[in-house]
Amino acid sequence: MPIAADVELGQGVILHHPDLINLYGCRIGDETSIGAFVEIQKGASIGGRCKISSHSFICEGVTIEDEVFVGHGVMFINDREPRATVDGRRAGEGDWTLTPTRVERGASIGSGAVILCGVTIGREALVGAGAVVTGDVAAGAVVAGVPARLLRGGWGQGLTVFMPLRRGRRRPPASASPLPEPQ
Ligand SMILES: CC(C)(COP(=O)(O)OP(=O)(O)OC[C@H]1O[C@@H](n2cnc3c(N)ncnc32)[C@H](O)[C@@H]1OP(=O)(O)O)[C@@H](O)C(=O)NCCC(=O)NCCS
Repeated sequence: MPIAADVELGQGVILHHPDLINLYGCRIGDETSIGAFVEIQKGASIGGRCKISSHSFICEGVTIEDEVFVGHGVMFINDREPRATVDGRRAGEGDWTLTPTRVERGASIGSGAVILCGVTIGREALVGAGAVVTGDVAAGAVVAGVPARLLRGGWGQGLTVFMPLRRGRRRPPASASPLPEPQ
């Protein structure tokens, strides 16, 4: 089923192609519109009057406040160091660490951007198309590039500087046995 029964849909939500989206366990605020081929996972929260364009992926741990624009094909991330297996068995729930991300009110994210986890994109900030956001974006700032860097703007005390990503502790190698060479 493309829209699971546990989705909290606000008033006046516009689903352009309800048969071509995948929503489960998430919350969608009033009057938000969602394009085709969008997936929104359990635990994600989208505010009101947002525009989520087609082909975007919004994962567990992402909170999007009101009036946020998400362009086409935007990818959020919630696991900084993903692994398919743990000690030779397929990784499942509990074998990974969720790192949350927040997009503040009125921000816009350009098409094709990738938003690494653990970041806050500030109020009314603008992320350029194709950017890879690896750290916090100041309110009102315009950032672009790979990795994203400040182009202009930003307001508020101490908020005009693009903050580098705070590195977490790295996990030890997943397995002692190397991956087999491709045949
Ligand atoms: C980031 C953005 C807002 C910047 O717009 P702008 O302020 O008008 O910037 P400019 O076009 O004057 O470009 C300024 C510089 O940034 C560079 N730049 C602009 N957009 C960029 C991007 N997305 N990625 C990398 N560099 C970018 C330009 O090449 C230019 O570099 P230069 O000074 O070395 O020549 C805009 O380019 C953008 O990406 N908007 C998102 C659009 C989008 O995805 N819409 C989705 C719905 S269709």
